[in-house]
Amino acid sequence: MNANAGNLEVLESALLADIAAAADEQAIEAVRIAALGKKGSVSELLKTLGAMTAEERQVQGPAINGLKNRVTEALAARKAELKNAAVAARLVAETLDVTLPVRQSPAERGRIHPISQVIDEIAAIFGDMGFAIAEGPDIETDHYNFTALNFPVGHPAREMHDTFFLQAAEGNEAKLLRTHTSPVQIRTMEAQKPPIRIVIPGKTYRMDSDATHTPMFHQLEGLVIDRTANVANMRWVLEEFCKAFFEVPSLKMRFRPSFFPFTEPSLEVDIQCDRSRPGEVRFGEGNDWMEILGCGMVHPNVLRAGGLDPDEYQGFAWGMGIDRIAMLKYGMPDLRAFFDADVRWLSHYGFRPLDMPTLFGGLST
Ligand code: DAH
Repeated sequence: MNANAGNLEVLESALLADIAAAADEQAIEAVRIAALGKKGSVSELLKTLGAMTAEERQVQGPAINGLKNRVTEALAARKAELKNAAVAARLVAETLDVTLPVRQSPAERGRIHPISQVIDEIAAIFGDMGFAIAEGPDIETDHYNFTALNFPVGHPAREMHDTFFLQAAEGNEAKLLRTHTSPVQIRTMEAQKPPIRIVIPGKTYRMDSDATHTPMFHQLEGLVIDRTANVANMRWVLEEFCKAFFEVPSLKMRFRPSFFPFTEPSLEVDIQCDRSRPGEVRFGEGNDWMEILGCGMVHPNVLRAGGLDPDEYQGFAWGMGIDRIAMLKYGMPDLRAFFDADVRWLSHYGFRPLDMPTLFGGLST
């Protein structure tokens, strides 16, 4: 190819236009390869110098090399320009507004569910009284949920539990979702010797659903077994718990006779409350009563089922609804909202994760 001055000018202005139009580093690199790469338009022109006569080369040499140098310079200049533009764009995008309020970390933004909070409060209160926490499986056998707790087969009290049964494998007895936390009484007696002082928080299940019942709910079971545990001890423990939990200095309790297969005698406990203000219940004052839990002395058959000799050991037990006492303490009207996983509800009723309840620091402050 014999480049004349006109051709070089056309090529130069085309290359300079391409360079000016390159919008990023990739585009500029493409232009560079097209001009100065091994097979680039300028490189091909340089190759033609070898075949020229000395006179031709004297004219074309400086012309083509001049073109090459100007294109090289334009490429470098455009590259630097793009780099500066990128830095400027980044500076704009990454500005830090130091007047903005500090954003809460995820750990600070999260909220503890009222059920978890109440379980922590319960653990703090009973832990202070020397109780340990025990747990058991949600899927239970008929034996632990009923028979060992002195519900004879065919006893009408079984029907009252609205039990969810699981599909049984061929030839096996159907397992069930535990209807109460009481089966953990038996499991604990089997696993450890008295003295036993435990509380058992956990999920329980019954076929039931309305504003104050959900198919899954939570119970707190308590169990004390030694050689002398008696009703007076039970009364003290429950009274101390209720005062600490509802954060009142004093509170009257009323014990009414009741029936549970696993206790004898069985009692139902009401606590003093005031319902005179609309939409509000206050504990430890007023002339009203509210049922709060069931309790009693552990039935000899239950001790036997747990492998203990009722002539040697005796004890008391109680059970109450965790969801219910949470609703009462924190004024939440509908139980179903507990399990809707609605972030708005949780940020309203939930608790700050770093405020762990303790007796000395205040349970709910
Ligand atoms: N298991 C009973 C229920 O779910 C509650 C209960 C009552 C538990 C009396 C006890 C007790 O340990 O002594 O209805």
